[in-house]
Amino acid sequence: MSGNCNKYESAFAKQFGFDCAFSFWKGRVALYAILKAMCVGPGDEVVLPGYTCVMDVNPIKYLGARPVYVDIEPDTFNMNVELLSGKISSKTKAIIAQHTYGYTCEMDGIMKIADQNGIPVIEDCCLAFGSKYKGKTAGKFGKAAYFSFQWNKPYTTGLGGMVITNDAELAGKIETLRANEMCAPSGKETIMLAAQLAVYRLFIYPRTTAFIQTVFRYLTKKGLVVGSSGVSEFKPVKSDDFFKGISSVQARSGFRQLKKSQQNIAQRRKMAEFYDHLLEKKGWSARRYDASIMEPVMVRYPVRIAEKDKALAEAAKAGIELGSWFECPLHPIETPLAAYDYEVGMCPEAEKASMEVVNLPLHPRVNEKVAEKTVEFITSFTEIK
Ligand SMILES: Cc1ncc(COP(=O)(O)O)c(C=O)c1O
Repeated sequence: MSGNCNKYESAFAKQFGFDCAFSFWKGRVALYAILKAMCVGPGDEVVLPGYTCVMDVNPIKYLGARPVYVDIEPDTFNMNVELLSGKISSKTKAIIAQHTYGYTCEMDGIMKIADQNGIPVIEDCCLAFGSKYKGKTAGKFGKAAYFSFQWNKPYTTGLGGMVITNDAELAGKIETLRANEMCAPSGKETIMLAAQLAVYRLFIYPRTTAFIQTVFRYLTKKGLVVGSSGVSEFKPVKSDDFFKGISSVQARSGFRQLKKSQQNIAQRRKMAEFYDHLLEKKGWSARRYDASIMEPVMVRYPVRIAEKDKALAEAAKAGIELGSWFECPLHPIETPLAAYDYEVGMCPEAEKASMEVVNLPLHPRVNEKVAEKTVEFITSFTEIK
């Protein structure tokens, strides 16, 4: 591990008031490290929401365990706690509490069920950096939490992942795994990632995002850029170089952005409130969550609409940045659901949300003008669902 990585990990752990943090090449690698350190293996089950990214399911499958999906509740898109008990069995080894879009899960309910059954909770904070539940920051409830710093996450180092835990035994096991099994990114990967970060800083603005994403997906398929998900990752089979650490480029970028994270959080909160205001003015409903228990820091602003596909296509033509995750219960749409033990009908609310939800941008380059244009587009193009 380079000095830059150590410095970044220490700063990250400190920000959460934790003893240690462990950095990885991607968020999914961070989850893999946690699950492996928890000795999850063949015959075990891991419970998670059926409204997620398939890359989050891969680590479970790589270890030979079975994902068990819980449907979501329709306002916050998070695991419906009322359905959780019914998914726990003697084989359950972990519960993944994914804080979706920035909304925190109903942590009291989840922790109660987990504690009653002696099952560890892993928090997926990839979409919720700084969100709070009853005054406590997401990431501080479970046995471990993990984060992602991929392109469209709360802050980006191009790619990147981090684990935090205060459990000394688990931390020791992750440390041993890193020492024995982790590989380093190649020189080529590091150079490509540094170049991509530069392109991101220079060229990605709300009006160019759709175009650049299309180019980027094409180049990823051709292996010409370090994409977040290569073709081989749509199969539940681990590649030899999956378990990888971060490069100095990512660590330096992460350290710099961590220092600015309070500004990032404040900006996201302010702009999400501005979207609430703009949508309400148009007669659309704003976010629905209990503000007396939750302080969300949104990574994107979800809205349910009619004619999702058409709206996405027209938005791209008009230079309006609209996001489409999650496109199906195990995003993206190309995922072979059966290979991931998902049967259509398992999570009806998640399937409905996948057909209706688009998300509005909230990254640091979104200002009031962009928000106004985006809301004007979406409200005049279609209807709320
Ligand atoms: C909710 C969630 N968790 C985890 C991940 C995996 O993160 P990464 O792309 O850094 O592996 C993703 C994917 O983007 C995600 O959306």
